[in-house]
Amino acid sequence: MNRYARIIGTGGYLPEKVLTNNDISLMVDTSDSWIFERTGIKSRHIADATETASSMAEIAARDALAAAQIEPDAVDLIIVATGTPDRVYPSTGCILQQRLGIKNAVAFDVQAACSGSVFALSIADQYIKSGAAKTALIVGTELCSRIVDWADRSTCVLFGDGAGALLLQASDQQGVLSTHIHSDGEFGNLLYCPNPQVSPEANNAHGYITMQGNEVFKVAVNTLGKIVDETLAANHLELSAIDWLVPHQANIRIIAATAKKLKMPMEQVVVTLETQGNTSSASVLLAFNEAVRDNRIQRGQIVLLEAFGAGFTWGSALIRY
Ligand code: COA
Repeated sequence: MNRYARIIGTGGYLPEKVLTNNDISLMVDTSDSWIFERTGIKSRHIADATETASSMAEIAARDALAAAQIEPDAVDLIIVATGTPDRVYPSTGCILQQRLGIKNAVAFDVQAACSGSVFALSIADQYIKSGAAKTALIVGTELCSRIVDWADRSTCVLFGDGAGALLLQASDQQGVLSTHIHSDGEFGNLLYCPNPQVSPEANNAHGYITMQGNEVFKVAVNTLGKIVDETLAANHLELSAIDWLVPHQANIRIIAATAKKLKMPMEQVVVTLETQGNTSSASVLLAFNEAVRDNRIQRGQIVLLEAFGAGFTWGSALIRY
């Protein structure tokens, strides 16, 4: 009997405060039209001073647990993807474990920037398929607002805060069909966020996101096109087999290029970018949750998740929901 990782619940959390492009245009030299035309973003959510990656992760995780109608104690594997952990250590996964009161589980973080949730999903899939875990909780949670330079118009307009969660459980029914994750450290300097306490680099005093946007753009479009081919080939599927594309939400032009590669109309692409911006590792899980909750994604449909981020890292997951 085949053993699959099947999705049994999704969840999400977005902070209450909304920051519009017009709000940002009062802070730096930019405009609503520049931001919307170049990125597809209109507004983003910003956490308040009391919120942390783990507090947002807890809300998203409880949302997913309620959707799956299982108790926290059923979870035996917790993987948190974040670039903004509460503490250097313990991991945000362990802090989340404590918040949820889960005893019999192993918890850890993965760091793959915006690809983090796809990496976490891939790891959880291997654990479940091999029999090493039965029920896995994956969370992507990010306070991007704390690591952007609010005086740098080339980056501060792009990001937002939020958390997304996914519960996977061992099943004999199809679930995750395949995952594909990659990295290439060669591109590390095109997009990075220094750790000011540790890094000796003089220009890193503040620990802000630093990016060469147009270079990142070009590599992202190319790489995501290739991962679509890789995923379809691994599953011996035609383009037409995919019902939904759930992409990382960085830029509408990058998303549209991937949809074009899939010959897919934008109606089959889940886009949350306009009201959420780029929430890094949370974005794919937040988008997936939204489309499950509003009944766009139906049981039995084939969904392609993909992401690209600093590292560079990139990956995909093909799922029969
Ligand atoms: N408002 C107004 N002007 C801005 C601006 C802003 N918020 N940000 C940059 N500009 C200016 C630049 O200073 C530059 O001016 P110049 O020509 O006088 O030097 C001009 O706009 C063009 O800048 P450029 O960086 O070439 O623009 P772009 O078309 O590449 O768009 C991004 C910039 C960031 C929107 C785009 O490159 C992008 O989305 N890249 C991918 C980023 C990404 O996805 N990162 C996360 C990956 S997970």
